[in-house]
Order: sequence, then C-alpha cells, then structure tokens
Amino acid sequence: MTKVFINGEFIDQSEAKVSYEDRGYVFGDGIYEYIRAYDGKLFTVTEHFERFLRSAAEIQLDLGYTVEELIDVVRELLKVNQIKNGGIYIQATRGVAPRNHSFPTPDVKPVIMAFAKSYDRPFEDLENGINAATVEDIRWLRCDIKSLNLLGNVLAKEYAVKYNTSEAIQHRGDIVTEGASSNVYAIKDGAIYTHPVNNYILNGITRKVIKWISEDEDIPFKEETFTVEFLKNADEVIVSSTSAEVTPVVKIDGEQVGEGTVGPVTRKLQEGFNKYIETRSN
Ligand SMILES: Cc1ncc(COP(=O)(O)O)c(C=O)c1O
Repeated sequence: MTKVFINGEFIDQSEAKVSYEDRGYVFGDGIYEYIRAYDGKLFTVTEHFERFLRSAAEIQLDLGYTVEELIDVVRELLKVNQIKNGGIYIQATRGVAPRNHSFPTPDVKPVIMAFAKSYDRPFEDLENGINAATVEDIRWLRCDIKSLNLLGNVLAKEYAVKYNTSEAIQHRGDIVTEGASSNVYAIKDGAIYTHPVNNYILNGITRKVIKWISEDEDIPFKEETFTVEFLKNADEVIVSSTSAEVTPVVKIDGEQVGEGTVGPVTRKLQEGFNKYIETRSN
C-alpha cells in the first residue's frame, strides 16, 4: 500500500486528505521540492532541502524542520514505500485557515505533505535528445522561489505539448530565462552559457552539478544572459532538471540545433553527471 507523509505521519494513500481551506489549495501559498533517488539513495538531498528552507524563508514561512529532519522524513518515505529509483515530491503550505489573503493570525501550523514514486532514468531522451519550443516568459518576478504558483510554467509546458515538443524554453523579450521545468544552456565554441542566478530563474540543483562538472572538466561556464537568436545558433543546447538530468535539445521551433545530433560537450556533461550520481547520493 502506498504511503504518503502528511503532518508528521505516514498514512495510506487512500486516507491522505487535506482541507479545502488549505492555503496551498486556495492561494498556492506554499513551496515545494522534487528530489531524485538512485538505487535507494538520495541525490544531492542537502542542496535540495537547503533550497526548500530558503524558499520557505523568502515567503516568511517557518517550517519548524531542519535540513537533517527533512532528510529523515524522505528517507523514511522511500523505505516504507520500498522505492529504489524514483522521485520524491515534498511541499509545505502556510496551513489551514478561513480564506483571507493576509497571513492567518494567530499563525497556523504549516501543512507538510510528501509522496514518492518509482521511475527510471530518462534514457531515451538522454541518448537521442528532445525537441523544444520557445515561448514568452509570463511568470512573476520571483522565479527563484520554488513556489506552488506554477500557472505560468503550466501554460508554457502546455504550449510545448501543443507544438509536439517536450519542453518550452521561456524568454523575457529577447533574453532566454529557463524552461517550463528546467534550466537552459547554450553551448558555443566549447563554452557553456546559462542565465545568471537571480530572480528570473530557479537556481537548479542540477545546474549546480553541471557547474561542478564544468569546473572538473575545464569547460568555461559563463553565467551570462543570451538571446533566443544566440540559442538557436548554438552548437549544442541542453536543458537540466532533477528528473531530466542533462537532456540534449536537438530541435528548437522545428529548426535543427547545430548538427542536429547530440554534441561532444553534452556527452561529457552526461558522463560527469553519472559520476556525480555515484559520489553525491547517500
Ligand atoms: C522552473 C524550473 N527551473 C529549473 C528547474 C531545475 O531545477 P532542479 O535541477 O533543481 O530540478 C526546475 C525543476 O523542476 C524548474 O521547475
């Protein structure tokens, strides 16, 4: 029986319920994380929970959990569900209170919920690459917070699906920001370009791993803004996320990227990523 974590307890999926007055449900007033498990171990879990607590602090939400306590929760979740390879979704909302935009007074307890699912690595996409579509970035100006408000991302992803592609690459005006659920990189003349970490993008944990690999491999990692045109003229393009890992993009808006095949820098990053799975999972 699948078990879900809600408010300190592991309960059967069929019994797992939240209130209609939960502020996550009514306002999207909450935050989340998504963490990967490889072979029963958690990948870069400390980085994920540090970001989770940062997101909480940015929306003035005190979770009452430390990074270590959160790690214990998700470890237990994997164990009770006997999951080896898969993902864990965890979210925290500001809690249950009568609908009113301002924070509840007095404070209510945050509602923390987590579930885990088994799935394999995206081997086919990693090998062959994906197609992407570009779309205007219409999201709010705090994309650095991993908030439950994902309507802009949802609409972008749906746009990608409508054009028979797997990811939407968003841009504000000419400037490429990030994917609907990924960070975006253009590789040109052996260097990796990606949007700097600021309020326009989520500071991806996989982005961090890619930065570590480029340092290991002496590949220039340039955190600079670039245009849609630059992206389309790149030698290689990749998107990264906890679930997509280092996924090559071989076509954008129906146009081939570079040679239209997976390039050498991408392959090097993928190899490096496999090594980090070995060394950064516990
Ligand atoms: C908007 C957005 N940007 C970037 C990422 C990549 O972040 P991470 O590598 O931490 O999964 C995600 C992941 O879901 C995302 O939703």
